[in-house]
Amino acid sequence: MFFRAGLAAGLVSTASAAAITITQLSDGQIQAAAVTATPGSASASASAAGQYSPLPYSYPQSPSVNSAAVSSVVSVAGIPASEIPGATNAIPPVISSQVTGVTSHGPFSGTPTTTGAVSNSPLATAIPMLPPNPTALVYNPNGTLNDPQPIPYQPAGGLGTNGTEPVYRVQSDFDYESVLLGLYQEWIELDLFHYILATFSEEEFTAAGLTPSDRFLIEFMADQESGHATLLSNLLGGPGGATPQCTYNYPFTTVHEAFDFTQKLTRFGESGVWGFQSHLDSREVAQLLDQSIATEARQQMIFRQFSGLFPMPVWFETGIPQSWAWTLLAPYISSCPADSKRLAWQNFPALNVLNQPNSARRNATQTGFNETTGFGPAAPSSDVPVNESCVANNVTGFDCSASISQNRSIPLSFPGREVFLSWENPGKAVGPNNSYVTDTKAGAPAWVLWVSQLNITYSPLTNISVQGGLNYGQTIQPDVSTYEGDPAINGTMFIALTDVNLPYTAFNLSNVNPHVAAGPFLYQAG
Ligand SMILES: *[C@@H]1O[C@H](CO)[C@@H](O)[C@H](O)[C@H]1NC(C)=O
Ligand SMILES: *[C@@H]1O[C@H](CO)[C@@H](O)[C@H](O)[C@H]1NC(C)=O
Ligand SMILES: *[C@@H]1O[C@H](CO)[C@@H](O)[C@H](O)[C@H]1NC(C)=O
Ligand SMILES: *[C@@H]1O[C@H](CO)[C@@H](O)[C@H](O)[C@H]1NC(C)=O
Ligand SMILES: *[C@@H]1O[C@H](CO)[C@@H](O)[C@H](O)[C@H]1NC(C)=O
Ligand SMILES: *[C@@H]1O[C@H](CO)[C@@H](O)[C@H](O)[C@H]1NC(C)=O
Ligand SMILES: *[C@@H]1O[C@H](CO)[C@@H](O)[C@H](O)[C@H]1NC(C)=O
Ligand SMILES: *[C@@H]1O[C@H](CO)[C@@H](O)[C@H](O)[C@H]1NC(C)=O
Ligand SMILES: *[C@@H]1O[C@H](CO)[C@@H](O)[C@H](O)[C@H]1NC(C)=O
Ligand SMILES: *[C@@H]1O[C@H](CO)[C@@H](O)[C@H](O)[C@H]1NC(C)=O
Ligand SMILES: *[C@@H]1O[C@H](CO)[C@@H](O)[C@H](O)[C@H]1NC(C)=O
Ligand SMILES: *[C@@H]1O[C@H](CO)[C@@H](O)[C@H](O)[C@H]1NC(C)=O
Repeated sequence: MFFRAGLAAGLVSTASAAAITITQLSDGQIQAAAVTATPGSASASASAAGQYSPLPYSYPQSPSVNSAAVSSVVSVAGIPASEIPGATNAIPPVISSQVTGVTSHGPFSGTPTTTGAVSNSPLATAIPMLPPNPTALVYNPNGTLNDPQPIPYQPAGGLGTNGTEPVYRVQSDFDYESVLLGLYQEWIELDLFHYILATFSEEEFTAAGLTPSDRFLIEFMADQESGHATLLSNLLGGPGGATPQCTYNYPFTTVHEAFDFTQKLTRFGESGVWGFQSHLDSREVAQLLDQSIATEARQQMIFRQFSGLFPMPVWFETGIPQSWAWTLLAPYISSCPADSKRLAWQNFPALNVLNQPNSARRNATQTGFNETTGFGPAAPSSDVPVNESCVANNVTGFDCSASISQNRSIPLSFPGREVFLSWENPGKAVGPNNSYVTDTKAGAPAWVLWVSQLNITYSPLTNISVQGGLNYGQTIQPDVSTYEGDPAINGTMFIALTDVNLPYTAFNLSNVNPHVAAGPFLYQAG
């Protein structure tokens, strides 16, 4: 109802730099099927002073009709294409991930050509703590209409509801850098899902409990990522603002480890967006981002299921600041092409849980030290001897074969658990081409910040020591609940070290960044 529909052509050029492909569905509903950057159509409106025109992609970007797909639809339907609404509409292509010809994986060993986050001249060092906006305390939610309705059946208020034509494009540096970070995430997921399929044999997938249909689901999820990468590239204004796919380095060697890594990576991909989407200047971008992250959230749950974890042991999914997502992602990107765009977000010093609960164990209480494989904050639980492993262990409560739901008799973690930590000092080169540098603006760490569901909590960091250039400490897993019956610390969640224990909630958590000394790390609470 909000879209101007030029249905005959199937494509509507908006006055903005983006266009929405409108599909007339068989039930007459109108749906925005894709957003494409349309360099040509923007030129007329871009003539006004100060307007930005997207650059053209270096590969064919115009919508086209796939005649084989049309024939296939016709043969199933048994009626002519001309009678099937939308069947002969041109469809926009996905952005090509092959521009850079990414075929290799592994670490980067070269020298960076540039270092550090994108930066200009910050105006201050911290955001002040302010009281609520007085206008936010006025509305009276008492069940009656406080203000005159603009039209029948529409209550007053809302953002973007006054008839202004939507512009599906980032509107500020905050928007741009947030969506650019999202695009870095979509690209690694596209590569990772394909890589998992290409790396393991059918026998190895079967042994982990996966059927051929499950493997097709992974392929389908990779295809979803190419759509997400296309959408985000276009929201960034096309090739002038988008960034290409990179080369990646993964820490797993077995199917179970691969899924454990992937359920962690998709967790920070999803939570990274929940952290910023409500802060975006562009409501239109937030709308489309929601529609991709809803899919991403399903992927995260499916990878938990493929790991044999309980699919969703929490009532709410948490959000994290962009700099947290970037800190978690960067170690897995080894290098990016010369024309890639650089990010403004912070890379914090790495934090590690030495006794990360091992999800491959029948009895995770027996997890020892360093039971992870590979490297980085999403390092997967390492496989254990067959007689201690829950993979392919057909005993209810002690099985972690791929399944819709595996109810663990012995939870992965518990309140009161002693958690042993190590963390790095700042100044280490990380991320694509080792070209970003870890940094902290915090004082000495004194607290462990636990971020899960709707809220945060702190536990004291104790027994701090330094050995061989690495810092060590420990803490006790807290016992907090979101609501009665919903222990807050569960699932794949986030911890970090801070110098103070100020309160934060979902909407102001990014203000904690100047207090983060190390982390975040993905703690496998359940
Ligand atoms: C509800 O709140 C509005 C705004 O304060 C007020 O005008 C209205 O009388 C209230 N209605 C009831 C039933 O309390
Ligand atoms: C409609 O709302 C937008 C903000 O969402 C505002 O910038 C614009 O001026 C409004 N237009 C009218 C006609 O009120
Ligand atoms: C990163 O390294 C690769 C491989 O050496 C190189 O091709 C690429 O241009 C580098 N990227 C940047 C941004 O310097
Ligand atoms: C699990 O491991 C803990 C710690 O070794 C042990 O106390 C407990 O008895 C074990 N539980 C089962 C069911 O094996
Ligand atoms: C675990 O790893 C840490 C850091 O690499 C190391 O200091 C510690 O000795 C290891 N512990 C065991 C039991 O291997
Ligand atoms: C599993 O087998 C190994 C020997 O291969 C043994 O050391 C270990 O104690 C066994 N674990 C259990 C829980 O029986
Ligand atoms: C698991 O065990 C049950 C009952 O013991 C049996 O019916 C089922 O076939 C087994 N499943 C597999 C995958 O071996
Ligand atoms: C599920 O696991 C919990 C422990 O986490 C246990 O209390 C409960 O009895 C289990 N339910 C079933 C049906 O196995
Ligand atoms: C996490 O949730 C699962 C499923 O409800 C439950 O069995 C487990 O005890 C919970 N773990 C923690 C640490 O609360
Ligand atoms: C968040 O948790 C803190 C304590 O951990 C509690 O005091 C506060 O009321 C909680 N806030 C919300 C909004 O749940
Ligand atoms: C801290 O370390 C000391 C000595 O190594 C030990 O006695 C103490 O139990 C540790 N504290 C905690 C909370 O584990
Ligand atoms: C964050 O917001 C909560 C309210 O949800 C407020 O109590 C808290 O003081 C804020 N934290 C900071 C550091 O401003």
